Amino acid sequence: MSVATTRVLVAGSTGYLGKFVTQAFKERGYWVRALTRSEDRLAQPGPFTAPGIGPDEVDEVFVGELTRPETLDGLMDGIDIVFSSVGISRQRDRLTFEQVDYQCNHTLIELCVATGVRKFVYVSMQGADGPEISNLAITKAHEKVVAELATSGLEYGIVRPCGYFSDMGALLKMARWGRVFLVGSGDNRVSPIHGRDLAQVCVDVAEGNEFDVEAGGPDVLTQREAAELAFDVVGKPAKITAVPLWLAGGMVRVIRLLSKQFGDLAEFIVVAGEVDGVGPARGATTLRSYFEELAADSTKPG
Ligand SMILES: NC(=O)c1ccc[n+]([C@@H]2O[C@H](COP(=O)([O-])OP(=O)(O)OC[C@H]3O[C@@H](n4cnc5c(N)ncnc54)[C@H](OP(=O)(O)O)[C@@H]3O)[C@@H](O)[C@H]2O)c1
Repeated sequence: MSVATTRVLVAGSTGYLGKFVTQAFKERGYWVRALTRSEDRLAQPGPFTAPGIGPDEVDEVFVGELTRPETLDGLMDGIDIVFSSVGISRQRDRLTFEQVDYQCNHTLIELCVATGVRKFVYVSMQGADGPEISNLAITKAHEKVVAELATSGLEYGIVRPCGYFSDMGALLKMARWGRVFLVGSGDNRVSPIHGRDLAQVCVDVAEGNEFDVEAGGPDVLTQREAAELAFDVVGKPAKITAVPLWLAGGMVRVIRLLSKQFGDLAEFIVVAGEVDGVGPARGATTLRSYFEELAADSTKPG
């Protein structure tokens, strides 16, 4: 099957990674349908340098809500490959990881099986089997999707990023304000990747035979070194406050009393602040060049 006649559905197209992935499939010549909850937000540039996907940058926009299957009639019509990065990061829908990261992707898999879609590319996370990470609600939801894909009969590929530059962008934002807060000692090592580079990995996985791919960027650095780099780029003295794990853990318990969704999210942030997240370098963009790009244009969202 040629690229030009292969039809791809991108679910999560309004998100940080999804916008770059939509762009990457189009650039390689695929016919692309973007699933979104909002055509306007799809068209606008997203935070942390994610591009806008206007009507000219995609073949078809499908407006629907994965949590409302009645809005998905015809979603898979003619589709060969589905890519999904649907999951909770900064959403305020009061839904849990189980309801979004698992249930929405379960709905997509069921639709793929029912309609004869050939391949599913899914974004989970690096280190999901680690002892600290594997019991988190977000990890369980992601890995339930992975397990379901393995028994679905679909061809599939799993992409496991080591952290996104969008999260590093939050460090630059704090450095601009003059102080960076880190959870834990800040000595854990990460190799985050630019969304644009990760999108290329996602399309490579859609095209190739690799089915479980870890992907990091070119730099391996501690959270503290990343924060110091952010201060260096904005030209301010490094002021870093390390929030001890016992205090962060207490805050998670209080937040969970108020909201399960935010409690689970906060627990993920705390655990990510203490474990290493390093994988093979699949991206070429350095964190310094990304920080410089963000710092140069303060009008960009994020
Ligand atoms: N950040 C990291 O370091 C990292 C590392 C490894 C893996 N990941 C995973 O990568 C995936 C994508 O991350 P991202 O940063 O691109 O996230 P993002 O920007 O929040 O995008 C997530 C996508 O999921 C959609 N979504 C969320 N809640 C939804 C709901 N209730 N109903 C329908 N759609 C919903 C969003 O749609 P709307 O825009 O309409 O809300 C968006 O298109 C996530 O599953 C995340 O866990 C992230």
